[in-house]
Amino acid sequence: MAKIVLKNVKKQYGKKDAAAMEDVSLVVGEGEFLVLLGPSGCGKTTLLRILAGLEDPTAGEIWFDDRLVNEEPPDLRSVGMVFQNYALYPHMTVFENMAFGLRARGVPKQVIKQTVHDMVALLGLEGVTDHRPKQLSGGQRQRVALGRALVRDPELFLMDEPLSNLDANLREQMRMELARIHGQLKVTTVYVTHDQSEALTLADRIVVMNGGHVKQVGTPGEIYTSPADTFVAGFVGSPGMNLWKLEWEETEDGISLGDGALLLPRSFLPVLATLPRTVIVGIRPEHLELSFGKTDVKVVCRAEFFENLGSHTQLHAGLVTSGADYVNTDSPRLVARLDSDAFIDAGERVTLTAPASAINLFDAETGIRVQTDGASYFDQTDRWALT
Ligand SMILES: Nc1ncnc2c1ncn2[C@@H]1O[C@H](COP(=O)(O)OP(=O)(O)OP(=O)(O)O)[C@@H](O)[C@H]1O
Ligand SMILES: [Mg+2]
Repeated sequence: MAKIVLKNVKKQYGKKDAAAMEDVSLVVGEGEFLVLLGPSGCGKTTLLRILAGLEDPTAGEIWFDDRLVNEEPPDLRSVGMVFQNYALYPHMTVFENMAFGLRARGVPKQVIKQTVHDMVALLGLEGVTDHRPKQLSGGQRQRVALGRALVRDPELFLMDEPLSNLDANLREQMRMELARIHGQLKVTTVYVTHDQSEALTLADRIVVMNGGHVKQVGTPGEIYTSPADTFVAGFVGSPGMNLWKLEWEETEDGISLGDGALLLPRSFLPVLATLPRTVIVGIRPEHLELSFGKTDVKVVCRAEFFENLGSHTQLHAGLVTSGADYVNTDSPRLVARLDSDAFIDAGERVTLTAPASAINLFDAETGIRVQTDGASYFDQTDRWALT
């Protein structure tokens, strides 16, 4: 198992192409499960292929422990890989599929037998070692693909959306399997997904990418509660954070934003005073609630429609800004996750509340998070330090 370090890695496929990935610096700790999360085309597969040695970086360095591997061909890197279309060899049995890589390396027969036997047990494939891929379920095939990559005892294990071919139930089950297998083998892993619930449940740390750039690196908790910018805030969470660009002013009742659409307590004044009049305010849908009485934060909206999701109801509404009493398609959108017994009529004017701790502030120009002490998120020392 290795510690992996990337330093200012860039990939540009053709001279005229825009860079697929740029200025990516990362550390994957020994035994860590790191998840790359981001929208389609953001460079996730590119990064994996560079780690595997299947693509050369245009610039930058890749280290496996104290080895600079830029020039090292894929077969010397001791990397196990599982891709979305994990093609198994159709004419080989489960055992042969898993033994293939070891045989190719001339590992002694007895060792192969024992290694595959152990992996079969770990993956719960005991009954099907003589079966060919077409006789297996999707989940079993996926397990064989994992086993085939893992029997080689790789320094680094790479997975590119390995569960995306499975149906929702199986995907959830395999997710738990992956967590269990990682818990036992502790192989350094980089796992690509654009499914954020997969990322939040599996990752030790998540790397959020967009447009070829790393936007944030952090534990699932950090990414969720303190998104580095409005992209991460909107991308993580389903639905993502409500983000409203509003002007603030001090009033008798506290701090009013969007002419009374949002009311914040006066304790926000020192932070807001460091910012321009226009800011972006973020609140997660689950932090908004229907409650009465005195609260920290008030949000005024007009209900539009509801989604009944069984355990809760999702209210979709327009923020009532500019002191106006109506909302239109230009009004900032609001989504609130309410108890399923919440009773509101479409068209009704509703006041929602939230705790002050639920408020996120972002710079309206750059989209970057503003800390509650007014510091920029990126002023903090070396958050993503290469150590
Ligand atoms: N071989 C290639 N030649 C030229 N451009 C490429 C090549 N492979 C990828 N790209 C481009 O690089 C960018 C990143 O692609 P990449 O496959 O890494 O994205 P991704 O994050 O894995 O997306 P997805 O979630 O859709 O798999 C895209 O703009 C893509 O078009
Ligand atoms: Mg991809």
